[in-house]
Amino acid sequence: MRPVEGMSILITGGGSGLGAGAAEHFCKLGAKVTISGRRRDKIEAEAAAIGPNCLGVSGDVTVDADRRHMIDAAVAHGGGKLDALLSNAGNMYRGAIDELDEKQLLDIFNTNVVAGMMLTGLAKPHLQKTQGCVVFVGSVHTQRAFPGASPYAATKGALETLTRVLAAELGPVGIRVGCIRPGAVFTEINQRAGLGDADAAYERLVGLGPAHALGRIGTVQEIAEAYEYLVRAEWTTGNVLTVDGGLGLGVTNA
Ligand SMILES: NC(=O)c1ccc[n+]([C@@H]2O[C@H](COP(=O)([O-])OP(=O)(O)OC[C@H]3O[C@@H](n4cnc5c(N)ncnc54)[C@H](OP(=O)(O)O)[C@@H]3O)[C@@H](O)[C@H]2O)c1
Repeated sequence: MRPVEGMSILITGGGSGLGAGAAEHFCKLGAKVTISGRRRDKIEAEAAAIGPNCLGVSGDVTVDADRRHMIDAAVAHGGGKLDALLSNAGNMYRGAIDELDEKQLLDIFNTNVVAGMMLTGLAKPHLQKTQGCVVFVGSVHTQRAFPGASPYAATKGALETLTRVLAAELGPVGIRVGCIRPGAVFTEINQRAGLGDADAAYERLVGLGPAHALGRIGTVQEIAEAYEYLVRAEWTTGNVLTVDGGLGLGVTNA
């Protein structure tokens, strides 16, 4: 397993939720971490809270100039190199199939899929030098069918497929590609999903507990540890690592 200490890591969407948890975790292990997000205040406050190993860069992953800035900033903050890209930024869009708005559908594909592909292309020369890796974020939505969640689930299915294809494409130049597949963890995305205010969203998510083999939703730290495994594991590529407390098993006692 490759040591994390001294690594340079870019985490998109690192201003909150799973990305912020991963940033804190990797910084504690001695990495130089650059986090990005659209809300300048949020990203700078999170980086300051984590400490000097963490740099906050504001930017939108759907904007080419911002993507280039994120990569350049991460390389500079990491001492001239990049060891890992965690393509974590993502949004949720739900709706019945006959009520979907085309612009919102294209926007979520841009944010959740296209942006990560373009960032991977930009990161490739840097990752080739370090024999580094890219990690995408799938979802339990590819395993459990939630009616009304087709836009989000489709983007996550695309990422899981990309993981395999890009692992084959980039393996010969020494770059590993992985994907984590989290289950339910309470973060801002659950509030942005239009399922009510923070309290209602929290109650709804916690209510999913019994659907998990392990009886509860997960924590950001548990997801950070899955990220860590894929970043460090030198002979693992093309893998989707499920970390969902058994939600994706579809446990039923019927
Ligand atoms: N929480 C779960 O249960 C769960 C389960 C499975 C998968 N996931 C995935 O995990 C990833 C992280 O989500 P999360 O749960 O941590 O939710 P979150 O707290 O909402 O984090 C998502 C982050 O992405 C950033 N972001 C969104 N659009 C962006 C854009 N266009 N450019 C730059 N940054 C952007 C947001 O910051 P700004 O708004 O400031 O840009 C936000 O900090 C997502 O890909 C999500 O699909 C989450």
